[in-house]
Amino acid sequence: MSIDIPQDALVVLIGPAGSGKSTFAREHFRSTEVVSSDACRALVADDENAQDATADAFALLHFIVRRRLRAGRLTVVDATNVKPQSRAVLLTIARRQRRPAVAVVLNLPEAVYRSRNGSRADRSVPADSVSFQRDLLVRSLPLLDKEGFAGVHVLDSEQTVAAASVRRTPGSELGSDPGQGPAIQTSLPLG
Ligand code: CTP
Ligand code: MG
Repeated sequence: MSIDIPQDALVVLIGPAGSGKSTFAREHFRSTEVVSSDACRALVADDENAQDATADAFALLHFIVRRRLRAGRLTVVDATNVKPQSRAVLLTIARRQRRPAVAVVLNLPEAVYRSRNGSRADRSVPADSVSFQRDLLVRSLPLLDKEGFAGVHVLDSEQTVAAASVRRTPGSELGSDPGQGPAIQTSLPLG
């Protein structure tokens, strides 16, 4: 599958822990294009796994995303994004900066998440939370097309993920149309 991504887009990775979001991001994007919730947790709390720092970590993540999109820089959000509300905040930021948002969904069998998470050196992910995240993802799938993404790409096997390529396309007219004036800065509830 070839995934077209406008060069000024927001890419929203969606997938439970162990679905391979960070691996996919590393493979297809420059490290500076990727804004990860774990990296933001580390920046605000010295610990990638600090769950009690979630609000501050996402405030930082949303801040970085907004500023990058305002400058027209391709930006990839590496966070689970399985909750509609998490995606809604990102979609609002993209819309207000007049940038397209593209969803890339890593929708793999639960057994894959379990086996990968079981052998991870970087963290231990409780099986319960992975099931919960997978459940949220499955319930999200039928909603994604109506949430406001310019493209929704669902990768639903390890083979599809391995074969996926990313093609950068010219930036959207939305962001570059001078007739629309400067991008608006906003303050959002979670940002
Ligand atoms: N992995 C793998 N094959 C892939 C992708 C990932 O074996 N095609 C392994 C990675 O080496 C890692 C684990 O699966 O040990 C989780 O991958 P990661 O990309 O870190 O998953 P994330 O979705 O980023 O997980 P999290 O939400 O916990 O950050
Ligand atoms: Mg990750």
